[in-house]
Amino acid sequence: MTTALPSEWHPTSWRGFPALQQPEWPDESAVDVVLKQLRDLPPLVFAGEARDLMSQLAAVSRGEAFLLQAGDCAESFESMGAVDIREKLRVILQMAVVLTYAGGVPTVKVGRIAGQFAKPRSSETETQGGVELPSFRGHIVNDIGFDPESRVPRPERLLEAYNRSASTLNLLRAFTRGGFADLRRVHAWNKEFVADSPQGQRYEEMAKGIDNALRFMEAIGIDTYSDSRLHESELFTSHEALLLGYEEALTRQDSLTGDWYDCSAHMVWIGERTRDLDGAHLEFFRGIKNPVGCKVGPTATPEDVLALCEALNPDRIPGRLTLITRLGAERVGGLLPPMLTAVRDAGHPVVWACDPMHGNTFTSNSGRKTRHLEDVAAEIDGFFAAHRSVGTWPGGIHLELTGDDVTECIGGSTEIADDDLDIRYETMCDPRLNGRQSLDLAFRVAELLHL
Ligand code: PEP
Ligand code: CO
Repeated sequence: MTTALPSEWHPTSWRGFPALQQPEWPDESAVDVVLKQLRDLPPLVFAGEARDLMSQLAAVSRGEAFLLQAGDCAESFESMGAVDIREKLRVILQMAVVLTYAGGVPTVKVGRIAGQFAKPRSSETETQGGVELPSFRGHIVNDIGFDPESRVPRPERLLEAYNRSASTLNLLRAFTRGGFADLRRVHAWNKEFVADSPQGQRYEEMAKGIDNALRFMEAIGIDTYSDSRLHESELFTSHEALLLGYEEALTRQDSLTGDWYDCSAHMVWIGERTRDLDGAHLEFFRGIKNPVGCKVGPTATPEDVLALCEALNPDRIPGRLTLITRLGAERVGGLLPPMLTAVRDAGHPVVWACDPMHGNTFTSNSGRKTRHLEDVAAEIDGFFAAHRSVGTWPGGIHLELTGDDVTECIGGSTEIADDDLDIRYETMCDPRLNGRQSLDLAFRVAELLHL
């Protein structure tokens, strides 16, 4: 008799492990019907694209490129029109130009987009005015309204998430190829930011530098109007792969290599609440061949981080694993250097990215969940300082932002104060940087890269 080795992997093998943060569907058989439908639908991305991202992330791990991963905390089924998508892309492109110029290396752009629908929750329930209801788990599961009907997990939402991801991805592909990403246009938007905002004026010199670089390219005969490298861009997609049934249904075997890829996005990551070494998420992630990320919060020890590296990238493939640290501005200086040293000494070729959002969230006096731009910038400062002290490459940043003019985070070029948070507080989950705050931050990171 042969028994299956515990290490044998299959897209379904996670089902033998404890899976945290999964919804309690009222009818499991209805979920199975939807998952079967999803298995029959085309992949959203192709294995070759995921490999392409992996090789670009390998360059980041070697210190030859910088990663900008950014987008919504939770995408909403309600705000996925062309303008929302365009504005998010626009701010990411603007930030990337600034970072590329300052860093002198390519910026790898990855959106938290086209599939960022599932949210892990700290509490199973939410209480308002003495009424307790199941928590909102993202539009892929239930609705945000505070009434019992809205909070019921509905499996049809899995299909809707797939369809919305497909249409978002389609538009992103059109925008990035169709001239929207033209370097001159993107730079012109940055110049507007610099001219229009008091904080922006600090960055006038950098904007002039980019102007000069463009003029120089033209002078030596590069046609900056028609060269596709200056006219087109590339934005990869990513999300937290939280709902393992959904991810399993979109995991396909690549006909070229025979390897399994989670074709719901180019890159997927494991959240802070689901990174248990013995859990279902680790089991699922170890077998897919996509580039993967894992959040690393303040409770992780250097040994935990090494164990994650061993579990997720035993073959030490550069670009395979991105560790996204979210330690908090006050703790990054103490906690990050020992992690960097341990991983470097073990010879693991990871990408280090800084998520300066999730360790710096607090409730404001007005009762809103918010973040201060100064804390966000301070964690990035600490991240760069830690890397400079250990001699490793501060590979990238991971941000929650929107192109819209929301008032969810405090501070920045238009000086949003606590009292202003109510004006346009629209997020379904965590507070996001608005377009101006995002650019402000990009210029600050550019200054750090330029040192
Ligand atoms: C998130 O990225 O939105 C998130 C929930 O982060 P974390 O897992 O780091 O808490
Ligand atoms: Co978030």
